[in-house]
Amino acid sequence: MPYPESLKKLIEKVVATRPARVERKKNGQEFPPLKLEEREPVLRNFHPDFIEGTRRSIKVGPSKGYAISNEIVDLLEAKSRVNPYLINLLDPDFETDVLIIGAGGAGTAAALLAAQNGAKVTIATKLRHGDANTMMAEGGIQAADKVGKDSPYYHYLDILGGGHFVNDPELVYTMVKNAPDALRWLEGMGTSFSKYEDGKMKTMHGGGTCRKRMHYAADITGAEIMKTIRDESRNHEDMINVIEFSPAVEIALDDQGRCAGAVLYNLETAEYHFVKAKAVIIATGGSGRLHIQNFMTTNHYGATADGIVMAYRAGVPVSFLHTVQYHPTGVVFPEQAEGILITEKFRGAGANVLNINGEQFVYEREPRDVEAACIIRECSPEGRGNGVPTPTGKFGVWLDSPMIDMLKGEGTVRKEFPGKHILFRRFGIDISTEPMLIHPTLHYQNGGLDINNKCETNVPGLYAAGEVAGGIHGENRLMGNSLLDVIVFGRIAGIQAAEYIREHGDSGTANLNHVKQYNEEVEAAEIDVDRIAPMILPDYSNPEVRKKQLTKDYFGTLL
Ligand code: FUM
Repeated sequence: MPYPESLKKLIEKVVATRPARVERKKNGQEFPPLKLEEREPVLRNFHPDFIEGTRRSIKVGPSKGYAISNEIVDLLEAKSRVNPYLINLLDPDFETDVLIIGAGGAGTAAALLAAQNGAKVTIATKLRHGDANTMMAEGGIQAADKVGKDSPYYHYLDILGGGHFVNDPELVYTMVKNAPDALRWLEGMGTSFSKYEDGKMKTMHGGGTCRKRMHYAADITGAEIMKTIRDESRNHEDMINVIEFSPAVEIALDDQGRCAGAVLYNLETAEYHFVKAKAVIIATGGSGRLHIQNFMTTNHYGATADGIVMAYRAGVPVSFLHTVQYHPTGVVFPEQAEGILITEKFRGAGANVLNINGEQFVYEREPRDVEAACIIRECSPEGRGNGVPTPTGKFGVWLDSPMIDMLKGEGTVRKEFPGKHILFRRFGIDISTEPMLIHPTLHYQNGGLDINNKCETNVPGLYAAGEVAGGIHGENRLMGNSLLDVIVFGRIAGIQAAEYIREHGDSGTANLNHVKQYNEEVEAAEIDVDRIAPMILPDYSNPEVRKKQLTKDYFGTLL
């Protein structure tokens, strides 16, 4: 729906302050970024991570005692969806060298490299191949490929700074070092990055970057990358088999504690299948669909933390899950598009963030957690109370996209941001002449499964790559490092898994003993034993109905 009269009236204030703001930008006079010591109090008082009562310690499993979001603890303290005493693993339905769970960017990159290194690959995915957060990524992929102007060294420092200097340095080093190669790999397969007429790739700044190293394909970078690697995997159907609509629900181990495959649940037939494998790569993505603290989300429908749940039961610890990323700019009006990502690139291209009075209140390229906290402070009655009310009683702030055409020439918004331009046009809003109303939205799982720089977990033969893994981004990821993460670590996981099976050969007799033990641990801890996980898909039904569905009796009938 177009802006109602009440919002059109408020937009007049944005229009009134715009010429002076554009002039300042043209003269290089930026709104001052917060000093390091000024960031801390804003984060403590307004970032959702710091709200009391929103985290609790996990009572069971390898990271027992670690306090993380209640919504994730609920899943980690749940029992299995399957009855481990009834599932037969002795007679596998499928056998493969490498089983990859998840068919987004990390899973598909892993499949290509595992196959290239001689392994037969099976990808099992919850929905269709490519239905994942990678497909929805907009802004870009960072890589320090401009020799002389940038270097992996600066990229490394930016990532550490954004992550509050607690990131795993080995993982960061591995990612920045491999970034230029990853970019060349994608381009070599035909990914169409945005380029100047002379063929050089266009690059931009993201929040917290000291160099322009964000490469992009308009505002649909993830779709362009995902399409390319998915097509490439289809060219290798002799080596890569894809099983769709079949989420994994448990990892299987063998008698020596090595990974031996996974149990899949066929969403169409409601049957369980066992895939025996010599190695498994978990690439299930994040957890945005848990709507942590009831936040709206940018995430794909399948982002329900399944991989973390399964691997945790198999003994893999988690870290950095105590922070969650809220992207500063999600759609808050029109409501039909609520939560959808408005890429940070709008701010990189010069769009100001403004309050109800049309005033700028924050530098647009703060690291994400700081930017989001400043916007929440502006909107919240306990903060500055300068948010713009929506017709249904929510609050947002303006993202002044029309400035971009004034700064960079008419038609830039339409050309550089076609995805968002078309989306808003459907609602009767032209974002090259009208600002967007935005609010922070749940975006990224900063932490996850513990891995080393070979993507190995502590379970032999079990690897993890992409958003499901933790440590790379510390306590806050910067823009453009997620697409990079899935490609760099997806490739590494594929290579390493293929090497592992060359060295170790077949896995032994598979079992679900760890699931039996985990269920017992949950019962012994006297936790609400009716809860089951993985969730597989979010449930937007009536909460009373949902409560009933989350009992083991309900799903027990499926066995
Ligand atoms: O703002 C964005 O386009 C998001 C990018 C990212 O999360 O890396």
